[in-house]
Amino acid sequence: MAGWIPEETLSEIRSASDIVDVVSEVVILKRAGRNFIGLCPFHAEKTPSFTVSPEKQIFYCFGCGAGGNIFTFLMKYHGITFFEAVTALADRSGVSLPEKSVSSAQRRQKTNRERILEINRVAMEYYHRHLLDKAHGRAARQYLHDRGIKDESLEAFAIGYAPRGWDHLISHLNQQRIHLDAAFQSGLIIPGKKRNGGYDRFRNRILFPIRDLGGRVIGFGGRVMDDSLPKYINSPESSVFQKGRSLYGLDRAKVACRRFDAVILVEGYFDVIALHQFGVENVVATLGTGVTGDHIRLLKGFAQRLYFVFDPDAAGLKAVERIVPALVKEDVTARIVTLPEGKDPDAFIREKGPDAFFMLMETAAPAVSFLIESAKARHGLSPSGKSRIVTEMESVLASIDDEISRSIFVKSVAEEIGVPEDLLLKKVSRVREKGTAAKRAERGFTPEGAFSADASEAPLARFEKKILSMMLQYPLMVPEIQKRGILEHFTDDRLKAIGRRILEYRGPSEGLIPELISMVKDPELGERIAHLAAGEDSWNTEGCLKLIRQFERHCDRALRDALNTRIQEAQKENNRALVDALLKEKQKMLHKRD
Ligand code: UTP
Ligand code: MN
Repeated sequence: MAGWIPEETLSEIRSASDIVDVVSEVVILKRAGRNFIGLCPFHAEKTPSFTVSPEKQIFYCFGCGAGGNIFTFLMKYHGITFFEAVTALADRSGVSLPEKSVSSAQRRQKTNRERILEINRVAMEYYHRHLLDKAHGRAARQYLHDRGIKDESLEAFAIGYAPRGWDHLISHLNQQRIHLDAAFQSGLIIPGKKRNGGYDRFRNRILFPIRDLGGRVIGFGGRVMDDSLPKYINSPESSVFQKGRSLYGLDRAKVACRRFDAVILVEGYFDVIALHQFGVENVVATLGTGVTGDHIRLLKGFAQRLYFVFDPDAAGLKAVERIVPALVKEDVTARIVTLPEGKDPDAFIREKGPDAFFMLMETAAPAVSFLIESAKARHGLSPSGKSRIVTEMESVLASIDDEISRSIFVKSVAEEIGVPEDLLLKKVSRVREKGTAAKRAERGFTPEGAFSADASEAPLARFEKKILSMMLQYPLMVPEIQKRGILEHFTDDRLKAIGRRILEYRGPSEGLIPELISMVKDPELGERIAHLAAGEDSWNTEGCLKLIRQFERHCDRALRDALNTRIQEAQKENNRALVDALLKEKQKMLHKRD
């Protein structure tokens, strides 16, 4: 893996960094004995099974099997390459990468992602300069000023202005001798019909750079300055920009989200900036798309209380309906903040001030109650009204996968509107049956296969795993394992390979597990190692020796059985010489261990 970063440097970065620090930037961790636990960022769960061990410097999820060391965590969480993870950690921990590896051919040949991020940064600076330019940016600055955006916000959010015209950015990039490839890929430039040319995507628009958690620019949102349409144009999705996983402002909001253990989700760029200007900093916005499960899981890493601010119109309602299942699945109680008709947070806070905004947050209803209340208000509680409410609610309820949660919500809805619970339950089940039948037909049935419950596993593999766990968690025994040649008896080749790696390891013992995970190039194997190392067994020498002897006896028995079969066969064939030889072998074996 990335052989051009020397092992020593990797070790140095590893020992200068702490996996608990790194993970807790994006997952809320609590101490639990020797470990830290939290809600897994890689799958939906309600009770924490995601474990981080400061001693072993690994993470492991007992729910979904994701696991690894500090590098693999960053790779998996941010979807980045090993080299990017190493560079990020090196920066963070103040370890400098050797000149040679930085300037090597591999480094100069940046990854696609890196080149897109780079060009986005160049474009952001270019557009921001334009906005601040006395002459060129005047109208745009005036527009922003008229909308109450302060000068500090222009800086803080690096707001830009894309000038009128088709090729300003292209010429700028050409001047800087920057290859246009990445600009096409990031969507800053749209391929044109003429020659090899293209044209600027953003023209005569205010630009909001959208950043990732690390503050890198992954895309832009561009607004017109009048009533023309479309009001906004956003960067297209690319390898660095997925709208369903990105939130505007999260890079600036994350500290405040942690501090208040609450995050406010709004719909627009202007809303985020306006709230900031009134001192509300724990606020993020979606990017013109619905809220996804990924968004919720991401936010859950920063705060346990989520406030969604929606327009109380039909579209807003639909949006709430759509997210309820994801909220239930992730076990977050999100509250729905409704603003007076026709107001967005931007307009509201300017008019009424932050205290009125906080008041609305305090009285906000949990998502499901919100849906019930809104249905009640619209349909009334006459028999036909109730029937309409049920029709509206049944699909929402049916989409809740967890049986217990579903029945709890069914009960509360039934009580709220005064219909028999079992009737509602029956209707919901019917909707579910239809749904699952359709889903099954769609993609075939795939049972979830967990690593530990692998039916094809060799019979001795359970034992072998236990021994590997021991070697990882109690490395004092490694010499003994080597002396006795225990690995030679392993029947599972993958496990044997892991064992060999442990024997080969020469570094300090606290580096064993994380370094091993880096040594094996295959991420799945890395997860297996994390799994084996993650358990909380308390080893001592005596217990270890007992396990080793037990394993040996098992192996002996297997050998003896095999030998006996061969002896019987030789006898059947009347092969005296072979029988004698085999009997001798058996004698030798019986004497070997006592
Ligand atoms: P709004 O229409 O509420 O815009 O859309 P806004 O941000 O409040 O802007 P102002 O106040 O009218 O100037 C909310 C969000 O939906 C996305 C943008 O992310 C916007 O911030 N959107 C809206 C689009 O992507 N495209 C559009 O055409 C409109
Ligand atoms: Mn607005």
